[in-house]
Amino acid sequence: MDLRVVVVGAGLIGPRHAKSILSNPHTELVALIDPLPNAATTAQQLQTSYYPTVEAMLQAIPKPDAAIVCTPNHTHVPVSRELLASGVHVLVEKPVSDNIDNGVEMLRFLQRPENTHLKLLVGHHRRFNPYVLKTKEIVDSGSLGRIIAINGLWTLFKPDEYFAPPGDWRRAQSSGGVVPINLVHDIDILHYLFGPIVRVHAEKTLPQRPSPPHEAEEGAALTMRFASGVVGTFLVCDATPSPHNFETGTGENPLIPKCSSDADFYRIFGSDASLSVPDMTRWSYDGRSSKGWNQPLTAEKFDVEEATPFDLQLAHFVDVIQGEAELSCSGEDGLRALIVCQAVRKALDTGETVELDSNIF
Ligand SMILES: NC(=O)c1ccc[n+]([C@@H]2O[C@H](COP(=O)([O-])OP(=O)(O)OC[C@H]3O[C@@H](n4cnc5c(N)ncnc54)[C@H](O)[C@@H]3O)[C@@H](O)[C@H]2O)c1
Repeated sequence: MDLRVVVVGAGLIGPRHAKSILSNPHTELVALIDPLPNAATTAQQLQTSYYPTVEAMLQAIPKPDAAIVCTPNHTHVPVSRELLASGVHVLVEKPVSDNIDNGVEMLRFLQRPENTHLKLLVGHHRRFNPYVLKTKEIVDSGSLGRIIAINGLWTLFKPDEYFAPPGDWRRAQSSGGVVPINLVHDIDILHYLFGPIVRVHAEKTLPQRPSPPHEAEEGAALTMRFASGVVGTFLVCDATPSPHNFETGTGENPLIPKCSSDADFYRIFGSDASLSVPDMTRWSYDGRSSKGWNQPLTAEKFDVEEATPFDLQLAHFVDVIQGEAELSCSGEDGLRALIVCQAVRKALDTGETVELDSNIF
């Protein structure tokens, strides 16, 4: 039987999730929920029912099997908690919460014996991006040798309208900023590829937007150390025209045009080879008479299959609910990425290197 799914939040990303639900053969879109009146029109276009609140939806229709929560960051925990408490499985957009305490509280709620059947998937959908899947396959195959270091970029320019109401939560320090909105994706991918980050240092970029009304950070240069001993640097900035970011490089977001050039956003350095992403070029001395800088490098290109990560993520959510798969990104995974983001912010505020507390759960 099809899973009955609702989407909560009809802003930028909610309708994209709704379209995935409509295209999945095992799911049915039963409602769109958002207090803004124009969401009713969006619901009509998606040929589904409209409700202004989760409470109104729960009173009006039989309990849905699952919900996708696409509301602003500071509402993720209260909205998800309300749904989980009603027995609805939840896929919550990233970041899992806006602060660690209420994120931990939600995990504790799920650990209660009466709630262990409930599933909470965190929407770090890039774990399903074909470029990330290929990168993980290459890293895990050992073909780069022992991973030594990584270097990453997430740099682009967000227009003024992105920060205009109702999206003004994106410029407030408590709910927005490039660190929890964008960097959190890359942190999750770095965790997925290389294991946990245990130490960070961060320097703020020069602000380009007026403050007020912009309170939140626009960018930072980071150094990171992973538990494995891998070290990394990362530059994040949303105030510079640049093709060096995940969206422009992979074309995964229909609102951000894919760049035709090979502008890379990750470089991974191993003892036997290095890999740049998304041009997927592996550089080595394979086939040369010796390994060393006096030899020409060998370039090998990997193909990446086309796929829509949101569709793959939803298919995975269905499998999880039906007991056929383990969560690819659990609440704990989501919180781990958030903990690193909070450490980055602490490093930005204090100018100090921050050690991460891994005993939070
Ligand atoms: N995975 C991704 O690539 C990706 C991309 C963009 C946004 N996001 C995340 O998705 C979430 C939403 O982002 P957005 O850009 O769509 O935001 P948005 O501001 O465009 O839309 C949010 C919508 O939620 C509604 N809303 C607020 N409180 C609500 C509540 N209690 N119940 C129901 N609806 C409520 C608002 O009215 C608004 O229409 C954010 O957490 C963001 O970080 C993820």
